[in-house]
Amino acid sequence: MSPLLVTRTLPEDATDAALRADVRHGLTVQPKWLPPKWFYDARGSDLFEQITELPEYYPTRAEREILATRSGEITAASGARTLIELGSGSSEKTRYLLDALMPSVYVPVDVSESALTQAGQALVEARPELEVHALIADFTAPLALPATPGPRLVAFLGGTIGNLLPDERAKFLSSVRSLLAPGDGLLLGTDLVKDERVLVRAYDDAAGVTAAFNKNVLAVVDRELGADFDPDAFDHVALWDAGQEWIEMRLRSRVAQTVKVPALDLAVDFAAGEEMRTEVSAKFRKDGVSAELAAADLELTHWWTDAQDRFALSLSVVR
Ligand code: AVJ
Repeated sequence: MSPLLVTRTLPEDATDAALRADVRHGLTVQPKWLPPKWFYDARGSDLFEQITELPEYYPTRAEREILATRSGEITAASGARTLIELGSGSSEKTRYLLDALMPSVYVPVDVSESALTQAGQALVEARPELEVHALIADFTAPLALPATPGPRLVAFLGGTIGNLLPDERAKFLSSVRSLLAPGDGLLLGTDLVKDERVLVRAYDDAAGVTAAFNKNVLAVVDRELGADFDPDAFDHVALWDAGQEWIEMRLRSRVAQTVKVPALDLAVDFAAGEEMRTEVSAKFRKDGVSAELAAADLELTHWWTDAQDRFALSLSVVR
C-alpha cells in the first residue's frame, strides 16, 4: 500500500483572510451578498449531504446515474492515467470513475483538509495499487499539480461550476486548461435548464433542509467573526432568474435590524424585507457549455445525460 501523500498549497490562514475580505466586501455593497463557499463548515457540509438525499434535490442522483452507466465510455474516451478531482469532498461519486478508469494516480483537491485525509486514507487502504496525492488547495485560484503520468483527466462534478459567475467560469476554465496538455481532458458536471417549478423546489425543499443550509452561512460568520446574526431573523428565498438562467438563493431580513461584526469593526443595517444573495446556481444548455469550453480552448467531445435529461456530464479535450 502506498502512503497517502498530502500537499498544502493553501496557507493555514488563507481561509480566514478570505472570509474576512468576502464578508467585509459583501456586507458593505448594495445589494449585499455572501459567497456560497462559506456554507461548508462541518454543519454546512452535513446539511449539504442531507440535501443530496432529499426527494426534491435530483442533481446528485442524476449525476450518479450517469457515472454508474457511463463510466466505461468515459474510461474509453479519456484513457487517463491520472485522475484529478476538483472539490473532491468525500470522494463518494468518484468510486465509479476510479473503478472503471483504474488510474495510477488520484489527485483529490479540496480546501477541507479533514475531508481530504479521511477520504484519502480510506482509498489507499481499499486500493493498495492506487497512489493518492491529496492537494489542500482552492481550485478557484491557479493550481500547482504534482508531476503525474498522462493522460490527465480533471473531473469537476456535482454542478459546482454553476456557483461561479460567468466571468469567474471563464477564468476557471482557462486555469484548468493551463494544467492540461494535448490529449488530456476535463469531465464536467452541469445541471441543465428545466421546468422552473422543478428547479425552485430543488432549492426550497418541503423539509426545510435547504433553508437551514442557507442560514448556516450566518452561523459561520457569527462563529468566525463574532457577529450577532440571528438566523431566525432571516427567511430563506430561492428564485429562478430566467434571464441569467440561474437559481439564486437569498436571505431576506424579516425586520429592520443592525448586525454587528466585531472582528471587522462593522455594524451593518438591514431594512425590513432586504434580500442578501448567498448563492447563484447556474443551469446550462449543451450549446452554452460547448461555447464556454471552446472559449477556453477545450473541445467538447462527449455529452452524457441521465435518462430524464436533467443533468449532463461532458468530456472535453485539448487537441
Ligand atoms: C454543491 C454547488 C452543486 O448549487 O446545487 C444545494 C449547492 N445549494 N442546494 C448546488 C446547493 C443549495 C449545490 N452545489
